[in-house]
Amino acid sequence: MIPRVLTSPTPDTDIIVIGSGIAGLVAALRCRAHGRVLLITKALLDAGSTRWAQGGIAAALDPADTPAEHRADTLTAGVGLCDESAVETLVTEGPGAVRRLIALGAAFDTTPAGALALTREGGHHRHRIAHAGGDATGAEISRALLEALKDSGVEVVEHALVLDLLLDARGRAAGVTLRLMADAPAPVAVRARAVVLATGGLGQVFQATTNPEVSTGDGVALALRAGAEAADLEFVQFHPTVLWLGPDARGRQPLISEAVRGEGAHLVDHDGARFMTGRHELGELAPRDIVAKGIMTRMRETGTSHMLLDARHFGAAMWERRFPTILAACRFHGIDPVTEPIPVVPAAHYASGGVRTDLDGRTSVPGLFACGEVACTGVHGANRLASNSLLEGLVFAERIAAALGDHLPEPGPPVPTRPPRLLPATARATIQATMTAHVGVLRNADGLNTAEQTLADLAPRPHGRVAGDAGSPRAAVEVPVAPAGGAEEGAAGDVAAWEATNLHTVATAIVAAARRRAETRGSHWRDDYPDADDAWRGHLVVRRAGDGLTADFEGHASIRDEETR
Ligand code: SIN
Repeated sequence: MIPRVLTSPTPDTDIIVIGSGIAGLVAALRCRAHGRVLLITKALLDAGSTRWAQGGIAAALDPADTPAEHRADTLTAGVGLCDESAVETLVTEGPGAVRRLIALGAAFDTTPAGALALTREGGHHRHRIAHAGGDATGAEISRALLEALKDSGVEVVEHALVLDLLLDARGRAAGVTLRLMADAPAPVAVRARAVVLATGGLGQVFQATTNPEVSTGDGVALALRAGAEAADLEFVQFHPTVLWLGPDARGRQPLISEAVRGEGAHLVDHDGARFMTGRHELGELAPRDIVAKGIMTRMRETGTSHMLLDARHFGAAMWERRFPTILAACRFHGIDPVTEPIPVVPAAHYASGGVRTDLDGRTSVPGLFACGEVACTGVHGANRLASNSLLEGLVFAERIAAALGDHLPEPGPPVPTRPPRLLPATARATIQATMTAHVGVLRNADGLNTAEQTLADLAPRPHGRVAGDAGSPRAAVEVPVAPAGGAEEGAAGDVAAWEATNLHTVATAIVAAARRRAETRGSHWRDDYPDADDAWRGHLVVRRAGDGLTADFEGHASIRDEETR
């Protein structure tokens, strides 16, 4: 099952792919036709978000459906901020990409007649979500891609945190530095002609999230440090229905897929009233931001900590066949959805923004590409349509491979890099508490200002010196990379400090964008600016500026840019 895994990477390769979810695995497999490929992943190959994806993958696969209808639903969910050409690419190339995934070995659920079984989720006007194992779609996709990886010739390094991008004298990507989590004494450098970021999400910036522990925004932080642009970061999507495990719930929380509502479950308050009826024509299947707001509003109106999802009418047989994973997770936590409603609450789920790319996954740093959740292709706008993320990872990973097949860059030798000063690992808890308290589903100026100040107070002092034992990397090639100035000892402490530093960078970027966007749009909900404002129909682009970040508005002329930090 496991492909060839190296204990330490080769010193140079052609293409480095970072991350092993659907985007990373597809990019690695398809890029292999164009050169040597090194796939680097932070934990085990199947530890990322893809494996946890329940609902499925959206594409116009039903003969009665069309890419145009999928496009319309995607644009509606994105509330005026989708890049229409990116959406067009997604919906027209999507069905073929899913068929190639099936040809590669992914087994989706079928109807008794042998057709693909398709379900509905929020914001979709049609049944167009293909699923596998009932509610274990990501696990099946991950299994099939890992199987294909076995004989692909792709080299793999597990348990390695990529730290920073190596750049040549002209600012082109020339490789990466990484920290092996096994007992390696120092960072390692690997040179490459192109680097593909597929590092997934940033949900761990909040206390409670559907994302796994590894989703610490490493790709966005690395890209910002390397000088790349990130966009739409204020649009963190909160999944409406995460199993409520009490006020002290921390870390990855069990997801109750939107497909449960797609199959007919109802959201009710503690009196049994269906509060989404009348709020939107699609009721409980409205786009995700609307359902999350509906739940939060009803929680505030009733002074309660959660709402309820009632699917008792499914009966035991349907629960067991269609949603075995969710049923098991609920029962593990003492809830039996066959006999009682499920307590649910919104939690951080998906970054609709990320590292800005063109339609071939190119970032603003030559030779650096991005796909999957770490990327901002423009497909999602202000709010991702349900089950568009696996499709986006698949389609744009294929496009990156095609672009690299057309042209593999030839960067010069890497120039010396200066690692960031690291925060202590303990900063992680403060960052998460701050983001949860002030930058969650509901935001306002006071909270965002408090968050900005707290993050600024935490920030590592500007560079005056690089702490640590400078100039002694265990570099396989002559690349001057100093071990970073972390407070912790050893590889594990070093990695925890890098993660805290990356979370801090990402949190600072989200707050910078969220403070500026003085309106409510998609998953960015300001209670001091409750309406959408056409003047804000544009993007906040975050860039590095000295030791800080700026969030500049690209769009309507009446919004003036300002330096945020
Ligand atoms: C879900 O199954 O509700 C999540 C699917 C997604 O986030 O697209």
